[in-house]
Amino acid sequence: MLRDVVSDAYRNVIEALRTVTLWLEKGLNLVFTQKYNPLYYHGALPNFFLWVLYLSGLLLFAYYVPTLEGAYNSVNYITSRIPSGALFRATHRYAADAMMIFVLVHFFRVLFTDRYREYRILPWITGVLLITVMFIAGLTGYMLIWDADSVALTFRTMELLNAIPVIGPSVTALLIGGQQITDYTLTRYMFLHFAIPSSMLFFLWWHYLRITRPVTNAPLALNLLMFGGLLMFCGIFPVAIGQAPPVNLSDMAFIPQAIKDVDWLYMFPQGFLVTGKTIGFAWLVTLGIPLGMLLLPYVQSKQFVGQFAQVVSDNCTGCSLCYHDCPYEAIEMHDRDDNTKFKRIAVVDVGRCANCGLCVGACAFKAIEIPRSQTPNVFAEIEAAMARAEAAPV
Ligand code: HEM
Ligand code: SF4
Ligand code: SF4
Repeated sequence: MLRDVVSDAYRNVIEALRTVTLWLEKGLNLVFTQKYNPLYYHGALPNFFLWVLYLSGLLLFAYYVPTLEGAYNSVNYITSRIPSGALFRATHRYAADAMMIFVLVHFFRVLFTDRYREYRILPWITGVLLITVMFIAGLTGYMLIWDADSVALTFRTMELLNAIPVIGPSVTALLIGGQQITDYTLTRYMFLHFAIPSSMLFFLWWHYLRITRPVTNAPLALNLLMFGGLLMFCGIFPVAIGQAPPVNLSDMAFIPQAIKDVDWLYMFPQGFLVTGKTIGFAWLVTLGIPLGMLLLPYVQSKQFVGQFAQVVSDNCTGCSLCYHDCPYEAIEMHDRDDNTKFKRIAVVDVGRCANCGLCVGACAFKAIEIPRSQTPNVFAEIEAAMARAEAAPV
């Protein structure tokens, strides 16, 4: 009972937000036209910025020295001595922010248009994994700079990790590569900052696995527009050289407490600590966001059982018409050996079936149906739709 009330209230909120989203999209159509509206490429644009990150990161890796003495100086060297080095740094940093912003747009778009539940549960769950690994990748990137802010960021992160019951100190040791901060800490950061973004390619493959024909690339003109905007932003807000790190890291009196330049997209837990919030609050928000995201698809309930296409095996001739017509690639053709004269049978993958009913219309043998909408009803609906289309003025 309570669940129904919560579910209905939640659905009403989502529907209101969907209306706002669609209005916003219409508004942007006036500026960008339908073909180049960035909101229609909410999944493709994070992909574009990911490739900008990989390429700009390559140059930074080529000059980065992962030691306590060398890291800060090498970042300075890249910024002031390498031709366009400062631009590469700015591009890398702001592309990370742009990617996170477009991932958030993508997240709200799929949420508000109700494209995240049921047979879309896999992209949703892998999306939560993607945003989590993106966050860790960004955080380790800021730690690599090894200026005073990075040192403060490292110590704030250690504070947070050490507070985890039982395993806290081991997790901290895993992050900093031992019991205290040494050259290995920066080697560990560099490893994490390389391995985690690389792992995103695997998570993306998983993310797309159950999406039919995912739109992974925006039109070239839109990508160029985004890239131009990014370069302009880098020119207006160049990345500065930070304050040098303390030499003595074993005496807390020398460790900077404040992070001057908090990037709230990637360092919000540490940002909470420097703005006076408690460790408990920082963890509540940090864990609450992904856990809340994972729970969202279950808040709005909808009956699951019996909503998928089902094959009536006695009628199925194995003709494959439904297999070719299913827009969700939810039908597979299997060999059959049940002593009928037919060699193949259609099998529905319920994890992909979107309950659209097309296969029912495709099958000439009444061999596939959706229990909730019986075949005659689907035929009646198709005929009514065709009659409406024929009657409509051309
Ligand atoms: C690196 C980050 C991400 C990238 C590059 C990415 C990319 C994409 C792309 C290209 C699509 C296909 C879009 C289409 O065909 O219109 C997609 C679909 C989807 N994504 Fe993501 N995504 C990311 C993160 C996320 C996150 C954080 C979530 C939510 C937790 C999410 C949830 C979904 C869902 C539910 C779909 C299916 C939507 C549909 O079928 O209309 N994604 N994603
Ligand atoms: S109802 Fe049929 S056509 Fe539609 S997704 Fe399911 S199996 Fe495919
Ligand atoms: S269209 Fe009908 S008969 Fe042909 S394979 Fe699909 S379910 Fe079987």
